[in-house]
Amino acid sequence: MRHADILKKLSLAEKCALLQGATTFGTWPNERVGVGSLEFSDGPNGVRHQAGAADHLGLNGSEPATCFPTAVTVANSWNPALGERVGAAMGEEAAAQGVGTLLGPGLCIKRNPLCGRNFEYFSEDPYLAGKMAAGYVRGIQSNGIAACPKHFAVNSQETRRQASDSVVDERTLREIYLTAFEICVRESDPKSIMSSYNLVNGTYANESPHLLKDILRGEWGFGGAVVTDWGGSNDHVAGVRAGSTFEMPAPGLGSVRELIAAVKAGTLSEADVDERADEAIELVLATRAGVEGAPASFDVEAHHRLAREAAAAGCVLLKNEGSLLPLPPSVKVALIGDFAKTPRYQGAGSSAVNSTKVDSLLGLIDETDLSLVGYEPGFERHGGKNESRREAALDLARRADVILLCLGLDEIAESEGAERRSMRLNENQVELAHAVSQVNPNVVVLLSAGSAVETGWVADARSILYCALGGQAGAGAALDVVSGRVNPSGKLAETWPVRYADVASAESFPADALAAEYREGLYVGYRYYQTARVPVAYPFGYGLSYTSFSYADLELSEWDVSFTLVNDGPRAGTEVAQLYISKPDHAVFRPEQELKGFARVELEAGQSRRVTIELGDKAFRYFNVRTNQWEVEGGTYELRVAASADDVRLTGHVELSGTGAPDPYEGVDVRPYETADVAHVDDAHFAALLGHLVPGGAAEIGCNMCFRDLNHGRSPLFWIVWLVLRTIKNSSERSGHPNLNVLFIWNMPLRALAKMTNGMVNMRMVDSLVMEIRGFWVIGLVRLIVEFVANLVQNALLSRKIAAASQPRSA
Ligand code: BGC
Repeated sequence: MRHADILKKLSLAEKCALLQGATTFGTWPNERVGVGSLEFSDGPNGVRHQAGAADHLGLNGSEPATCFPTAVTVANSWNPALGERVGAAMGEEAAAQGVGTLLGPGLCIKRNPLCGRNFEYFSEDPYLAGKMAAGYVRGIQSNGIAACPKHFAVNSQETRRQASDSVVDERTLREIYLTAFEICVRESDPKSIMSSYNLVNGTYANESPHLLKDILRGEWGFGGAVVTDWGGSNDHVAGVRAGSTFEMPAPGLGSVRELIAAVKAGTLSEADVDERADEAIELVLATRAGVEGAPASFDVEAHHRLAREAAAAGCVLLKNEGSLLPLPPSVKVALIGDFAKTPRYQGAGSSAVNSTKVDSLLGLIDETDLSLVGYEPGFERHGGKNESRREAALDLARRADVILLCLGLDEIAESEGAERRSMRLNENQVELAHAVSQVNPNVVVLLSAGSAVETGWVADARSILYCALGGQAGAGAALDVVSGRVNPSGKLAETWPVRYADVASAESFPADALAAEYREGLYVGYRYYQTARVPVAYPFGYGLSYTSFSYADLELSEWDVSFTLVNDGPRAGTEVAQLYISKPDHAVFRPEQELKGFARVELEAGQSRRVTIELGDKAFRYFNVRTNQWEVEGGTYELRVAASADDVRLTGHVELSGTGAPDPYEGVDVRPYETADVAHVDDAHFAALLGHLVPGGAAEIGCNMCFRDLNHGRSPLFWIVWLVLRTIKNSSERSGHPNLNVLFIWNMPLRALAKMTNGMVNMRMVDSLVMEIRGFWVIGLVRLIVEFVANLVQNALLSRKIAAASQPRSA
């Protein structure tokens, strides 16, 4: 124990009280022993610190902060050192605002392009996601405060997000969904981590001894605090027992009473409470100096410049026919597209930042050498026809040399709390692109979107610059690339499939039932497309430059590869060289190739450099479900140095003796996984992969029943609640402005009422509601009233007890 001296001064109630929030973002303090309240704040791409009314959905205002590009953008830079600088700046702003723990970065794996929160996550690849996240954590924590990587683990859909059960085999869990966290924890030592809302194989992530005790704390040596997602705690007793520290946001004293009762009943050991309290105290004390010593302000302009640099580094040049870009000075440019004036630069939900300022293309274009002939919005931002806008845009296009056509997804297309409805841009944008290209073919599309989109319109653009979500300074960054001040070097951190139907999980995502079955196993992103030989629009790791690079003279060993990289094009540039590992003669099925290293190399025109990429301890490993540990298969490995997953430039081979483990799938029929024929895996094969039957299960009437399922209950009162919620939800969606609050409640289980109402509702009251829904209307209601009163009285008594214990003791 790091704080045994403090712990011994605390009563059981006081220790339990330390393990939860007292306000939406603040933990329970105990000033008597010098443990203050720790302030959490979102988030992954800037600080969303709410001094006034606080919420976890980004609904109320927050203090101004720099809105950095979102994770999808910075990931495209493949530059953990840049992530570290962004993290350092965010951490500085957080500390300046009194925030001890910043809730980010988000490093969930992008399993499917339609996940509404993909913009907050780095990649479909765990190696890249882990490296980027580690950079952010190092940067944030360099300010003496804590980072809180999230959401641990297997959290890849928003539908039913607080009660969805991710059913995944152990190998996929380890190799795809945990490896990013493993890299992050081992390489950056985060002081805290956020458990995810969902269950993993039938157990809430926050209550999973396998995830929290065995793997996170045991194997990876994590010594920090585990924080529940907001309203994500199901049973605090089970959480504390499994290794979860803080229940957030403000569950009230009901949770404290549950912990005390469990200790008294012997179902929770006081040693577990002590360990968790020790972690809680450590987080508070370890971040205190960072917060107290922080200057109250930060350099707004310097952070804006950094945001611009990061956004430019994250721009990916997808197409550049006839080297239309960069544009020469004085070229007559038409700015077309609503996003040129009102940029789409961040996502919606808990990550939404109140930016210190927001640049637009229209506002900044005068600072360039380009000659603006005019601006036209061209289309309705949220879809729908507008003939006059279209005609005006075409008139303008005729008068220009080049059109900067700003397309993208609108704010409602990607948000926390809901999935994207499709991978397409609004039809009015696609039509406009075609019409514009007919009157003037010199179209440069500047695309703003937080995740992959279908690009059936590619022929209507000579150049496409994917700007992702560039943050508050994204417009300047786009102009830097367009004008050639910055030579693009971003490479896609996720594959862009030709069409949504090509995604391995297309038909099962999002799972509407309780179980989200990860039937595709390891075959996520390029691991699927390449192994199953599905052509893609733009491969993982792809991105063009204004210069060109060649690769030569490969030397390799089982520890590293070296090669010579030459900038053989006309200007200085940066190449992201990637290292993939393949095992053509494998016995244990595996993806065609996997990313195991990369290097960003800056070269002047004509310059060359010897580059070395180390292989590290994860290069050859796979998780063997029979030995239940990482193993290495013996034999020949092909090492591929590549400019993208589809553009291998150099290959070599190494022989490894391997660990000699038995084939984990011997005698098991896992044929779909041998060929990546995983788009429609049947129950038998999925069960073979899982090692047990596919769990069934419909939503039951219980405390984990979601509001969206109340129509299946037996209470007319709750049918009305359901109807009202559904009506608001549907009408808000039709109006184009989804109501995040209602969406949250729609996917929320009943028990969250007891976890988010600061003590007004407790679990016994939730049980009474469940009785009501089961059809015991009178008993349920009477019990509810009795429990309500009992809760009030018990809260008052316990709060007096804790307060009394917390008074400084006189000598
Ligand atoms: C989100 C978290 C966020 C938390 C606090 C939750 O709804 O899932 O990512 O950090 O709210 O705002």
